[in-house]
Amino acid sequence: MNKLTITIDGPAGVGKSTVAKSLAKYLEIPYLNSGALYRAVAWKVSKQGVDSDDEDAIISLCKSTTFVLAVSDDCQAVAVDNTRLTRELWTSHITLMASKISRLPDVRSFLRPLQRKYGNDNGVIAEGRDMGTHVFTDAEIKVFLDASPSIRARRRFLELQHSDTAVSQEITAKELMERDNRDRTRHSAPLRPASDATIIDTTDLSAPQVVDTILALIKQKNHQTGHSTD
Ligand code: DC
Repeated sequence: MNKLTITIDGPAGVGKSTVAKSLAKYLEIPYLNSGALYRAVAWKVSKQGVDSDDEDAIISLCKSTTFVLAVSDDCQAVAVDNTRLTRELWTSHITLMASKISRLPDVRSFLRPLQRKYGNDNGVIAEGRDMGTHVFTDAEIKVFLDASPSIRARRRFLELQHSDTAVSQEITAKELMERDNRDRTRHSAPLRPASDATIIDTTDLSAPQVVDTILALIKQKNHQTGHSTD
């Protein structure tokens, strides 16, 4: 029996990665962090000193580079040509650059087939901004996670505390809102729930509670379709 394709979209700081990784582990389904691919492109663009608005230069750079996602335990990595990147992709500089280059339609078109390659009979849990709306439009389970801006800023701030890029809560909140605004208002695949997505407000929920809510959704869906994740 083919395994499920599950999409988890939502704004920055909502807790998508924690929930998606934990579900992937529990269901034994591969995990795709699409943001890591946008970050890898941003890293290459930044390394080559290309302007983040120069779509033609960015695309020709993308076409001459290989990007391969790898997950080992909790650590999301991307191999850019022969360089394996992990923490380098989550600096505030790359976060800003990824947010800028992800507005470009050609960058999105370049990454889309690469992301789809991760969806097959083994199933996938894909997290991002447009997984349910553009990349895995036929996914059996689509979830859109949301939470109040203040709780997302708080979660993101706590996450950054454990990294090299710790900044104040105020700056974290401001950057998060700017990124959010860019993601929601861009013309190409803006952040929004798919029409067939289940929206979960996680403001008052812990990560395990969100995981349980999604597992209940899966169970309900399997019950309706006779599908099995085994
Ligand atoms: O999920 P993340 O914060 O690591 O994503 C980094 C940036 O990439 C984010 O600002 C928006 C962009 N992104 C996107 O446009 N579409 C996706 N599916 C995933 C990420």
